[in-house]
Amino acid sequence: MNGISLPEKMMAEAEALLAADKAAEALPLLETLARGAPSADNIRKLVDCCLRAGCHEAAFNYQKQLLALKPTGANWVLLAEMALGQGAVESALDIFLNALAAHPEDPVILQAAVGSLERVNCRVYDPVLARFLILLLERPDQNPLSVYAYAAQQVASAPPFQQLLAKAKTKTGPVLEELSPLTELPLLPVLLKRALIQGPDLETALIAIRKCLLIAFTGGSVLDEKATVLLYGIAAQCFAGEYIYRETVPEAQAIAALEADLCQQKGSVERQKQAAVIVACYRPIARNPAKAAVVELARDHGDPDFSAFCVRQIKQPEEEARIAEGIETLYAPRDLVSCHVKEQYEMSPYPRWWAANRILKRSLAEDLRRQIPACPIADFPDMPERPEILIAGCGTGQHAIMVGNSIENGVVTALDLSRNSLAYAIRKAREMAVTNITFYQADILELSPWQRRFDVIESMGVLHHMGDPMAGWRILTGLLADRGLMKIGLYSNLARQDIIRIRALIADWGFDDSLDGIRAVRERIRDGADLGEEMRQSILSAYDFYSRGGCHDLLLHRQEYCFSIPEISRALSELGLEFMGFQLSHSGIQQKYRAEYPDDICMRDLDCWHAFETRYPGIFSNMYAFWVKKAR
Ligand SMILES: C[S@@+](CC[C@H](N)C(=O)[O-])C[C@H]1O[C@@H](n2cnc3c(N)ncnc32)[C@H](O)[C@@H]1O
Repeated sequence: MNGISLPEKMMAEAEALLAADKAAEALPLLETLARGAPSADNIRKLVDCCLRAGCHEAAFNYQKQLLALKPTGANWVLLAEMALGQGAVESALDIFLNALAAHPEDPVILQAAVGSLERVNCRVYDPVLARFLILLLERPDQNPLSVYAYAAQQVASAPPFQQLLAKAKTKTGPVLEELSPLTELPLLPVLLKRALIQGPDLETALIAIRKCLLIAFTGGSVLDEKATVLLYGIAAQCFAGEYIYRETVPEAQAIAALEADLCQQKGSVERQKQAAVIVACYRPIARNPAKAAVVELARDHGDPDFSAFCVRQIKQPEEEARIAEGIETLYAPRDLVSCHVKEQYEMSPYPRWWAANRILKRSLAEDLRRQIPACPIADFPDMPERPEILIAGCGTGQHAIMVGNSIENGVVTALDLSRNSLAYAIRKAREMAVTNITFYQADILELSPWQRRFDVIESMGVLHHMGDPMAGWRILTGLLADRGLMKIGLYSNLARQDIIRIRALIADWGFDDSLDGIRAVRERIRDGADLGEEMRQSILSAYDFYSRGGCHDLLLHRQEYCFSIPEISRALSELGLEFMGFQLSHSGIQQKYRAEYPDDICMRDLDCWHAFETRYPGIFSNMYAFWVKKAR
């Protein structure tokens, strides 16, 4: 063959063999080529060929070589995926750890790393996995509840924790020395500071550790460095859960005495700081008589841990209080139910959150395609260059900030009844430097006179808290531009049967929604006397059970209504809206639906979905989340 070099000839031969599905025969040719010219391109071909020939170990080694030549996020991820595919879990986690150290901002690596956790599925404590979880927990751009739950499970399965738990379940509880083995679990303090811990055993242990530290301190013991690390962690956790844990009368008395000592600045500075953190394990320090003394301690004797503690538990709540005063009211609530619900969220802004998932900036169209992949592209109306987006009932702002952060050129307006929730949202938006959101206080039910129109309206978990959800939905529909899109989130009656039953029981028990009432409800559920074990477990496994705001929202909401799919279908006809598709919480639901309803290509036949949900009542346990547009 005139003019063709030997390597070109070998490559042509190898490609012909690959095309004929003879990867094993192509392999030696590609290996020779790569030895002669170890370019990234040649090695990539070699990796692909090895994988196709089933030579996984060789593929892994060549991928390492490729990575050295081209250390891109995609190459790191492929290497980790190969290790996972071979069951080499620790090696895969190590690769992700190195990849994130080399490319901390790469969303491809981050997403793959978080996604890999589902496949790791390790039920015993593993130090490498713990290191990996610490890295994820410490990032400000990661918030999957799955990571929190996994980290909590890892801690709960560790032998030092198990020993402590056994002690915690005895009448006397642990003594100070018995806390030391917990320092072998570096994941524990990070989890305490960065996440809300869920699980009844963890709660039992934390309550016992808190009490043990209080008794030791007030008994005159010195809390060493290790105990202090735990103490700061527990203070952060109790603050995050809004002081939902039960306490005994002697503990309450000891805390009152400590508060008095703090006010009088008794003891050394070190003792005063520890006393402050102990009090903050039981009471919100920003609203405590000892606050001024604590602020003084931070000013005069700054140390990083104590300063961070004061920022989180004093400065930020103060900042929110200042912000709340300055929020503009667009349309004040007048409806009785709205006022009642507002009061609830003023008491307990919900959900409290710490980090928001980083998503690559993308166009609105691209975002919608990802959310409802079965919807034909032709069905998405063209969107303006700078889409106006309304988040109606934004609560504490996590969703609004994610939208503001991820939609290219999005101009976001976010409103809510609750000033305290909005203040939390505004503080977080400032912290994250998100500047394209305007926040207002407003009642959706009062928005009829508003002249603005929006290209997108999203209202997740809001309408079902109105006395007349259809009235709210009608008003939002009126605010939608003609070619606009709307995303709605509504409770599912079928999915919430356990909650509906427990709410009826709670009404019988007669507890109110004060902190004491919520604590009492939780104790009753934890004892489980009036509940079946299945229902008890289902509630104890809910993330919301572990904070005051969450518990209030989950079990004692002042107003909620659960929908069925036929009701949604009727509402859409009445409002002149067309269903575009559900956003599903995981891909397994889509696969199952497709297998059972292959004729519903666009996955938007609500009769089929109703039959499907009736068969699998848990599939919408988060909520129905769906997109609609104005019917033509
Ligand atoms: C469960 S929270 C959901 C918050 C947010 N959408 C989210 O997904 O995180 C419900 C929010 O709806 C707000 N809300 C309820 N009724 C409302 C109304 N009539 N007008 C405006 N906001 C309302 C509440 O104040 C509360 O913050």
